[in-house]
Amino acid sequence: MDQEPVLDLDDIQGNILPGFKKDAQHFVFLRVVDAQLAKKWLRGLAPRLSSAKEVMEAHTLWKGMRRKLGRDPDNLDFLFLNCAISAEGLQKLAVPGIDEFDDAAFKLGMESRAGVIGDPPTGSGTPGATETWLFGSGRKRPDVLLILATDDDVWAARAERELITSARSNGFQRIHVDRGRVRPGAMAGHEHFGFKDGISLPAIRGRASAAAHDFVEPRVWPPSQDFNAYRSRYAAPGRQLVWPGHFVFGYPRQMRDQPEDMRPHSEPPGPTWAKNGSFLVYRRLRQDVVAFQKFLATASALIRGRGFDQNLTPERLGALLVGRWASGWPLARDPHTDRGENQAGENHFTFSETTTVPLPNDLHPLNLADPNGVVCPFAAHIRKVQPRDDSTDIGPMERTFQKLILRRGITFGRELGKSDGDRGLLFVAYQTSIVDQFEFIMNDWVNDENKPHANSGVDPIIGGARDSTILLNNGNTTFPLTVPGGWVVAAGGEYMFSPSLSFFSTV
Ligand code: HEM
Repeated sequence: MDQEPVLDLDDIQGNILPGFKKDAQHFVFLRVVDAQLAKKWLRGLAPRLSSAKEVMEAHTLWKGMRRKLGRDPDNLDFLFLNCAISAEGLQKLAVPGIDEFDDAAFKLGMESRAGVIGDPPTGSGTPGATETWLFGSGRKRPDVLLILATDDDVWAARAERELITSARSNGFQRIHVDRGRVRPGAMAGHEHFGFKDGISLPAIRGRASAAAHDFVEPRVWPPSQDFNAYRSRYAAPGRQLVWPGHFVFGYPRQMRDQPEDMRPHSEPPGPTWAKNGSFLVYRRLRQDVVAFQKFLATASALIRGRGFDQNLTPERLGALLVGRWASGWPLARDPHTDRGENQAGENHFTFSETTTVPLPNDLHPLNLADPNGVVCPFAAHIRKVQPRDDSTDIGPMERTFQKLILRRGITFGRELGKSDGDRGLLFVAYQTSIVDQFEFIMNDWVNDENKPHANSGVDPIIGGARDSTILLNNGNTTFPLTVPGGWVVAAGGEYMFSPSLSFFSTV
């Protein structure tokens, strides 16, 4: 196996690695009106940007305090700041070499690619069509994005005001602000349909220093030899180890179908200043929670009535659509019982493997091979976007490692009952190829009813605007379930580039 490269954690922005993980995150979208002033202001921003190293250290400190106190620390908070720039923004700032990126999607921007990622046709007036977006289309295309993150809402609001006031007197116009907030109480960490999110994330390969085992992502398998088969490919149960060049520019990518090995000279193409940067996909996704819940109630009654599954509850139907129970417990490991939140092994499952090796003290049933989508439907959101060990239309499972993304989203909007209905997910993802990673997932898997498996149906959670039919399979027979489109629609977004910290001192 190849030695993993040392990552420049002082130069990589902290929301790429390790992710801000803060309860309040504000996304401020700006447009450049005076390029000279704007450049100067961005140069001044450099020392305020949070690096990967700083954010990692802050998390370590916070976790240490939490362990010591046995609860969340009251008086330990941080304000993180990151910045990203769109292709149009880079052009306005006269940054050279944009053409050296080979990513057509980034260069065109999200509005032009809306059709590729399943949004309704522009001009149709349908919710989700680009002309209905709050920003990201027409004259509201952002050049610059500032991401502010802290656990303290008051601090976040004050910092947002200060930054906007300062930006406006320095060559920028404010286009739009999204305010993300982790949901309150027991729903913390759950998205608005009620399911726990942020469980499954790939792990970046790479070291923090020249020491042989100083890995940025700790390897946490139990010492037993039983786990040797997983160790070289997974940092922890369910967490694929991915070569850093799939997430950060300037580093090598994977050798074809060998996730253990890096491909020499395989750094993603881009200008030299792109090193330590990453493409950022931002989507403001509105969720129609009422329609989703109504569907679960009426469709589960219909399925029961037809005798396909006499015991199907709305909760289990929801789990069939997502691939996990509301607590996050994978359907693949128990199709009938939600085993509850934060259980060891919540990400320890596969779809094709005969059975996963049991973790110590993990007494729950293990997953069994599910080649026909009986336990977890092929259309289930998590099986669509990350088919794990399944072979797919692109070949053996080893190729899926190269399609993974670093998700850093957060919920927005008020709780059900009090709300005007504008709630959902501020989807944020980092990668080095928007075309081969985010857009590939959306276009080839989510929205194609025959991929990654023939007859899988489109992803019922994010499969865009149109009605579609997914197949439920109880082992004896199948049930075609028509799922209405439009539960999740885009209300804005952009493709951006999140450069290195050193980029900002020279822009
Ligand atoms: C409002 C929209 C969305 C909702 C409600 C949603 C919900 C969820 C939930 C509940 C999970 C399971 C938790 C986990 O495994 O971390 C999940 C996982 C995931 N989602 Fe989404 N999601 C949304 C949008 C998207 C989009 C646009 C993508 C685009 C690619 C995406 C990609 C993923 C991926 C890659 C995973 C991890 C799957 C795995 O590794 O097992 N999601 N999502």
